[in-house]
Amino acid sequence: MHLSFCLRCAFLLATLPTAAAAVAIIPAPVEVRENGGPGFVAGIETRLVWCQPPADMDPVAVALGDLLRPLLGQRAVGWPGETTATNAIIVDFNAAHESVEFKKLTSPEAYELVVTPERIVIHARTAHGAFNGVQTLRQLLPAEIERSPRPGDPAWQVPAVTVRDQPELQWRGLMLDCGRYYFTPGAIKKLLDLMALQKLNVFHWHLTEDQGWRIEIKKYPRLTSVGAWRAESPMRGDRRRGDRTRYGGFYTHEEIRDIVNYAAARFITIVPEVEMPGHSSAAIAAYPEFGNNDVPGFAPEVQTRWGVKPYTYAPKEETFAFLEDVLREVMDLFPGRYIHIGGDEAPKTQWKNSAFAQDYMRRHGLKSEDELQSHFVGRIAKFLTANGRTLIGWDEIQEGGTPAGAAVMLWRTSENWTSLGPKPAPEWKHAMAPLKAGHEIVVAPKSHFYLDYYQVDPRESAEPEAIGGLTTLADAYAFDYLVPGLTAEEQGRIVGLHGAIWAEHIWDFPKVEYMAFPRSCALAEVAWSAKERRDFADFQRRLEVFQRRLDELGVNYRKAGTIPRQTIQ
Ligand code: ACM
Repeated sequence: MHLSFCLRCAFLLATLPTAAAAVAIIPAPVEVRENGGPGFVAGIETRLVWCQPPADMDPVAVALGDLLRPLLGQRAVGWPGETTATNAIIVDFNAAHESVEFKKLTSPEAYELVVTPERIVIHARTAHGAFNGVQTLRQLLPAEIERSPRPGDPAWQVPAVTVRDQPELQWRGLMLDCGRYYFTPGAIKKLLDLMALQKLNVFHWHLTEDQGWRIEIKKYPRLTSVGAWRAESPMRGDRRRGDRTRYGGFYTHEEIRDIVNYAAARFITIVPEVEMPGHSSAAIAAYPEFGNNDVPGFAPEVQTRWGVKPYTYAPKEETFAFLEDVLREVMDLFPGRYIHIGGDEAPKTQWKNSAFAQDYMRRHGLKSEDELQSHFVGRIAKFLTANGRTLIGWDEIQEGGTPAGAAVMLWRTSENWTSLGPKPAPEWKHAMAPLKAGHEIVVAPKSHFYLDYYQVDPRESAEPEAIGGLTTLADAYAFDYLVPGLTAEEQGRIVGLHGAIWAEHIWDFPKVEYMAFPRSCALAEVAWSAKERRDFADFQRRLEVFQRRLDELGVNYRKAGTIPRQTIQ
């Protein structure tokens, strides 16, 4: 007994680092106070304790259990208990236990994490707040705990800190374009895991495109039997030629429900996107009767090249009935408040050339095709509102007037800019009319958070093919959503910040990881941390620590530096 005790001590001494890992949390919390002295060492006797847990506590228990299972095994479950327990990790929702400083943080997502040698306490008001605290605790533990299977025991030591924290923006999101390429449910779950680690809480799932319709709709099976498949894709490295390989895929209702639940367990809401009236070639190829089939040369197909295509839905009653049927199934699958209907880049040529569309405009007193677009989106907005949802669309939905109650996703923050030249200052002109009219805005700035742009100048580094443009990590980090000249109320309507992983040139998930990381860490920090907390040099220091965790998680992030040109194939 004595011998085994000594052996255990020797083992612990050998494996404990001399000092706790450097405190390096992304996104930067409101306040981190390093208390000095010994921290908390979790061991096999450590208990998980809940104090006054809310009804939706389960995901927090699962997240904490998953984090500690390698150490605690079957004992990684929590029980109601006292906040005075020792050798315990305690999640405490009792408002009477809140510190004066914590009371000053008003967000429902706020948390306070206090680490002493006796215990770790996460104070929170909501399960989401506690989950945020668990993600911070995770970043205080050594990166090796992420590895599975783990080689030997890492030291489960947490430095003595007090962290107080809450987000600046309530919507912190990433979009993945699954229309241009199909990513497996497993890949999407990995992205959701990585989002949770960074406290990102909205996944925008771009599900339909000219080049592929990816969501099963039971009432319209041709959407996937026809619309999910294209004859070929642009050749990698030469976009003008085809690769002569049939390509496609789609998500079944069962897979989608599973992913929605997986996201919810990480406090991530999914905003599904079904594009209309443009970016709809695949749907119109499946059901040509919903297109402008009276225009010359009408021959819809699931597109095999990138770029904006002329196919738009026709403003027929049958088309609106079809779209409402589709959206009914979408709403049934996705419980979140927002439904994204695209609305971007809808060329007006087919409506101009369609006798039916022109007659519809006359009958409804619409003076231009822009007004028809606004009318079209307005009809859909009314339908979604009547079903208790909120329409969100790309910022073109304001052309001809933003529909009542709709939210706007601002992407055109740099008109026509795609060069490798210096980063332009963000433009806000497409935000002003909806902001002044009282609409919510989520900023998904092409200028700073289109993650399909090069992150290092391809003339200097052997970068894999990207769409164009250049957004370095420093460029992304420098983005600011505080708009000069707005009232506090108007500024408050900018509720979110969003990164977009457009996938024309991102054909597999390792490349998604390469393009998204580490720039999504910059996104997470700009969205979460107040401007006065943002410091690029300090972010880079913390990123080095964070990247060790990404290494353990097998993430193909882009490492700093240039890649020698001679490695180009
Ligand atoms: C977009 O980039 N067309 C929203």
